[in-house]
Amino acid sequence: MSDRPRVFVARVIPEDGLVPIRAATEAHVWPDDLPPARGALLAAVAGCEGVVTLLTDRVDDAFLDAAGPQLKVVSNYAVGFDNVDVPACTARGIAVGNTPGVLTETTADLAFALMMAAARRLPEGDRYVRAGKWLTWGPMLLLGPDVHGATLGIVGFGRIGQAVARRAMGFGMTILYQDVQRVEPAVEATYGATYLQLEELLPKADFVTLHVNLTPQTKGLIDAEKLSWMKPTAVLVNTSRGPVIDHAALADALNSGSIFAAALDVTDPEPIPPDDPLVGLENCLIVPHIASASRATRGKMAEMAAANLLAGVRGKRIPTPVNPEVYDRA
Ligand code: DGY
Repeated sequence: MSDRPRVFVARVIPEDGLVPIRAATEAHVWPDDLPPARGALLAAVAGCEGVVTLLTDRVDDAFLDAAGPQLKVVSNYAVGFDNVDVPACTARGIAVGNTPGVLTETTADLAFALMMAAARRLPEGDRYVRAGKWLTWGPMLLLGPDVHGATLGIVGFGRIGQAVARRAMGFGMTILYQDVQRVEPAVEATYGATYLQLEELLPKADFVTLHVNLTPQTKGLIDAEKLSWMKPTAVLVNTSRGPVIDHAALADALNSGSIFAAALDVTDPEPIPPDDPLVGLENCLIVPHIASASRATRGKMAEMAAANLLAGVRGKRIPTPVNPEVYDRA
């Protein structure tokens, strides 16, 4: 029997994280592309001192019971941690880590790419060419709104929202934002950003991009009523979490033309079933939750997840805890 701590890593992550984890622990790395089914997950974590989870793995009381009282750390390989019942972990003295900061710029790149692709109808154009429909240059072909000079509404003005604002400045966009808290005047001045409530922001914005955490307050935030406040020419972009948008309401809005287009990196559920009404809509671009998927960023996330895991199993304060109160409690 090895005296190294037992850990479970719920999927193959980049070597930047796996190498240090394997060097210091008795690691079981889930080898499949698909996540472990619930039963397999609960069996795999039994007896572990640390786990690296993904946003596909639900960490709740049943998970913590299955793991056992020796579990010290849940290191989530994501900045979002809505898959983890953090209070349940804190109550048991278990540190929870995430990977903030390193994916900010990469996620903002994708949000901007989605905005431009949906506005300029790139997926539709690509499908049109491949279907052999391109017969001539057309004055009325695949028209969409300009991105440059347009008004951008950013909902959630934290790290990623502000990174999108930096890109928008280069496109001469007017920046409006909403958040639970107004940022410092100096930050507003940096982006020339105006703070508005959604009632005012949504009717004014040509593009709306979502960067909020998923919480009970933000679940269904963009519902039928909010969509009805948007311009018929507007584009809605979501790189946060799928349930922030009411999908049935979005499908209605896109079908009826009450908004122009949507571009989603995240859906509800994930993966989105192929027969979901949104999948059949020309004006809805959907990609499979890839906002942080650059090689460099996924490598940095793996390093951070490993650092949290290893500090946790060694009984040290983890570098990026989402429940620092767990240490006050100790
Ligand atoms: C996150 O980190 O929360 C993203 O959704 C996946 O990188």
